[in-house]
Amino acid sequence: MENMKDLEDKVIAEVNGAEDLKTLEDIRLSVFGKKGIITAEMKTLGAMDASARIEKAKQLNALKTTLENAMDIKKNILEAAALNEKLKAETIDVTLPCRPEIQGRIHPVSKIYEEVVAIFGELGFEVAEGPSIEDQFHNFNALNMPLNHPARQMQDTFYVAHDKNTPFEMENAYVVRTHTSGMQIRTMENKKPPIRIIAPGRTYRSDMDATHTPMFHQVEGLVIDKTTTLAHLKGCLYDFVKAFFELDEIPVRYRPSYFPFTEPSAEMDIGCLKTKTELKVGAGNDWLEILGCGMVHPNVLRAGGIDPDVYQGFAFGVGIDRLAMLKYGIPDLRTFFESDVRWLKNYGFAPLDFSSLTGGLNGNGGSLR
Ligand code: PHE
Repeated sequence: MENMKDLEDKVIAEVNGAEDLKTLEDIRLSVFGKKGIITAEMKTLGAMDASARIEKAKQLNALKTTLENAMDIKKNILEAAALNEKLKAETIDVTLPCRPEIQGRIHPVSKIYEEVVAIFGELGFEVAEGPSIEDQFHNFNALNMPLNHPARQMQDTFYVAHDKNTPFEMENAYVVRTHTSGMQIRTMENKKPPIRIIAPGRTYRSDMDATHTPMFHQVEGLVIDKTTTLAHLKGCLYDFVKAFFELDEIPVRYRPSYFPFTEPSAEMDIGCLKTKTELKVGAGNDWLEILGCGMVHPNVLRAGGIDPDVYQGFAFGVGIDRLAMLKYGIPDLRTFFESDVRWLKNYGFAPLDFSSLTGGLNGNGGSLR
């Protein structure tokens, strides 16, 4: 064997000069592989006499450690460089626009959802979220609808089966929420007045035609304070519809109605023009119902742990899908949930078209006033 020092210098020079992992691996094999130099040297030890063998083994082991260390260090350097190269090659410019052929679309319901949150956010409302599977206390009882209350029949409720081993008992079963009004109670349980929330989300009823689907979306609104009045309700909802339909003025009317959880209760209509081919919001002699509302019933405040002699408030419930049908002229609600990409291409929105009152709800300058 050549002088050990020469061998060490030679291998280390090769290691240092290696430009990639493959070259380094070849060097390692030429030294430590089956036919490698060090391997060959190790094999000679057996034939040597004891004292020479001990001496040589010591030197070989020292050399082995030195070379292995050098190779490890170089390997780390080359691996880091390879990773950097890879990262550089895979860099994505996130500021580039999406490629049109792979562009997804935002569903109109998601779009309206964002718009409604943006408008009420601007009016100082917080967003509250709650479960789709609800107990009957929150969905009915606490909303002034005790068991056997006739209003429960209005809602075509889906009941959720218990586990297989418990017999089904209608009065204790969970339901998939029939409206977002249960969030009024959940909010009162978690928050002290003043309260100003909206609760958007999915709701479910056993119903299906051109304007009803078994799953649909609502936004609940709840405001509670010591001096909240019907005038606040009217002002707030008027601001909302103006901002939502992006109109400076819009005819509205309130018709007396009935909800067990509000008293008095009303439905709000907006003025529109209906022709055979068109529905125009904000003009004409026709009316379109868009939401239910009222002053929170004292029993509901009590059920939520709030003293009705000190506090009062208003609540409203809007159908998000209905708003989408109106605003974008989509005639059949069932098509919303058919997952047809052609439909989504037609009615959907560009992914980066965020809704805000300053930027414009539809990119064309919506305003609260
Ligand atoms: N929960 C009612 C419905 O689903 C709407 C509503 C909410 C009415 C709040 C009044 C107050 O029809």
